[in-house]
This record gives sequence, C-alpha cells and structure tokens, in this order.
Amino acid sequence: MKKLRVAIIGCGGIANQKHFPALKNNAELCEMVAFCDVVEERAKKAAAEFGVTGAQVTTDYHEVLKNGDVDVVHICTPNVSHSEIAVASFEAKKHVYCEKPMSHSTEEAEKMVEAWKKSGMKFTVGYQNRFREEVQNLHASCSNGELGDVYYGKAHAIRRRGVPTWGVFMDKDAQGGGPLIDIGTHALDITLWCMNNYDVESVSGSVFYKLGGLEQATEGNLFGPWDPKTYEVEDSAMGFVKMKNGATINLEASWALNILESREASTTLCGTKAGAEIHSGMSYSKNELIYNRGKNNQLMEETLSPVGGVAYFGGGGGEEGSIDAKQWFEAIANGTEPLVKPEEALAVTKILDAIYKSAKENKEVRF
Ligand SMILES: NC(=O)c1ccc[n+]([C@@H]2O[C@H](COP(=O)([O-])OP(=O)(O)OC[C@H]3O[C@@H](n4cnc5c(N)ncnc54)[C@H](O)[C@@H]3O)[C@@H](O)[C@H]2O)c1
Repeated sequence: MKKLRVAIIGCGGIANQKHFPALKNNAELCEMVAFCDVVEERAKKAAAEFGVTGAQVTTDYHEVLKNGDVDVVHICTPNVSHSEIAVASFEAKKHVYCEKPMSHSTEEAEKMVEAWKKSGMKFTVGYQNRFREEVQNLHASCSNGELGDVYYGKAHAIRRRGVPTWGVFMDKDAQGGGPLIDIGTHALDITLWCMNNYDVESVSGSVFYKLGGLEQATEGNLFGPWDPKTYEVEDSAMGFVKMKNGATINLEASWALNILESREASTTLCGTKAGAEIHSGMSYSKNELIYNRGKNNQLMEETLSPVGGVAYFGGGGGEEGSIDAKQWFEAIANGTEPLVKPEEALAVTKILDAIYKSAKENKEVRF
C-alpha cells in the first residue's frame, strides 16, 4: 500500500503527546510531509524530528492545503479554529482527523459535517479513549446485550485540581469553554458510544464560575498554579440528558472542584441485567472495568484480567492513540468507515452546547 502523506496543523501539546508518536508507530501506513504552526519554531522542531526529508514547514495552514503531496490533514489547533480549517481542508480535497471536540458550537460543527459530505473525503474526530481495552470490552458487552436495557448512564470528567495551564485552555475566545468542552466531551463520547443511543430529547445544565478566579483555589493544581486574572471559562459544569427512549445520562465535568474523587474519561452504565463502571483518572492507580450483577443469590463484581487477551477488533492491543491512527489510515486506504463517525461527534457537540445554553437561559433545551 502507498503510504498516506499527512500534514499536522498545530504542533503543540496534543500533536507532540499523541499524533507524532502515533504516526511514527504507524510508519508502514503513513509519513509526515508537512508541519504548520503559527509559532514557526514548533513546526520546524517537529519537522526535524518526525518529518520526511524536505517536509514542508509553514505558519499558514492555507499553504498546507495547496500542497498536492498532502493526502490527510490532522487538525491540532485550539477548538475555535477547528471548523474554519476543516471546511477549507475538505474544499481542498483532504481527509481530516480533527482533534476533539469537533467544534465549540453546534453551528460550526454542522458546517464541518456539511463540507465533509460534499467532499467525498474521510472525516474522524480525536476520541481515542474508545480504543482503551476496558472501553472496548464495555462496548462489546453493551452490543451483545449483557447489560440488558441500559437506562441510566453517568459520564465522569471530574478533576479535583487539574486546570491546564499551558496553551489557551483558559481563554474563552480560543476554546469556547472550559472542562465541559475539554474533558466532558471524552466522557460523554464513550457513554453515548457504549449505550449506542444518540437520540436526545432534552438537555438541562448548570455551569459554574466559582473557583477559576480565586487565588486560594490554585493551590495544589496538578499543572502548577494558574493565573486567576486570566481565567475566563467555567471551572465545572453538570448536565442532565434525557434520551427519546427514556434513558438518562448525568454528565459531570470539572477542572477544579472541592470533591475527593478525580474520575475522568470514565462512565457508569446501569442496565436491566447488569451494571458496569469504568474507573480511570487521577484517583485511580490503574484503569479498571468492573461489571456488577446478581449471581447465586449474591451480588457480584467482576473485573478484566490483566493477563487476558485484548478485545480489540483487528486483534492486538497497544496504546490507544496508535490504535486509533492505525484504524484511521486503514479506513482511508480500504474505503471503510473510521470508528469515530462525524455524526456521533456532532451529537456530542450538540449536547455540550445545549448544556451551556440551558445554563445561560436557565431552562431545559428540547431537541
Ligand atoms: N484527544 C485528546 O485527549 C486531547 C488532549 C489535549 C488537547 N486536545 C485538543 O487538541 C487541540 C489543541 O490542544 P493542545 O493541548 O495541543 O493546545 P496547544 O496550545 O498546546 O497547541 C495548539 C497549537 O496550535 C497552534 N495554532 C494555533 N492556531 C493555529 C492556526 N490557526 N494555525 C496553525 N497553528 C495554530 C499553537 O501555536 C499551538 O502550538 C484542542 O482542540 C484540544 O481540545 C485533545
């Protein structure tokens, strides 16, 4: 197979933590031919370390889109720029992997989906948590009916003190929001995907701006103290989502909350036959999936064995970013669908947007 030629737009945190290593781990499927960042040094450094000889380095993403050598664009810029860059990429006939969330607003996300549909190219969004072994296992159990009718879910995205202090995370204009849109998005994505239910009836939410502006709240932050004077986004948000079939999801998201448990990219599902909980986040030394049900007249808990096989489709485990990249490039090469579908990522954005709207207008948002 001919290697897919990839451009990375935005060479900051997630590009370095996830995309560059994941693409390098899939060197038989892809090569990195272009690097773009408004801070030229970042693009230059990445090109020198990960790029092919003569890789393009630019500060203007339009130059990347003019480059006929580029097949695929990975968008790793702040949230508010996702829509503009993705729409332009589809118009330039590039496949697009956009970092999560798809966008900061429903309107902008819908523009992306519309441009994608017109383009005939492939489109996916960076929900790599779906590729964790416990999430794959839980999804398989939901699909084969082991939990029965799943009528209650809880999407957990709670940090006690984990305000990201790099980049523009506290900047409302660049990101569109705080923990809800940043980490709530992952927890909601895995919850909806496992429940396989995207038919929303109504959303209510509360959004809090309580701790971000308080000097004393910065104590003990995982990423060092933040500057309360520049903190603009919410510090926590809670949502209540009712689906058309009556199922209900509680979504909790915080970067800073006076609570003991830090539980993130995690879900709890309750069905008529059994329940299941994923434990992951700073309060846990390792990720775990715990099924619970009644058996032999007693209540039972069951966990994944650390020495067992890994329930990935296509076989073989590994680090989630690399597995995600592998299935993404294979989907492009084979003309199949990537695991994370644009319509599913759009549904996540619509719910998050509705939580902000409900909180602002102090009323339920009906879909
Ligand atoms: N999948 C995940 O788990 C995960 C984790 C962290 C961040 N993210 C997402 O990745 C995106 C970026 O986050 P980050 O942590 O890497 O932020 P970052 O600030 O570390 O990096 C963003 C980079 O984009 C550059 N940039 C900004 N505007 C640009 C433009 N118009 N053209 C080219 N370059 C531009 C910045 O100079 C910076 O280097 C966000 O959407 C975020 O939500 C995803």
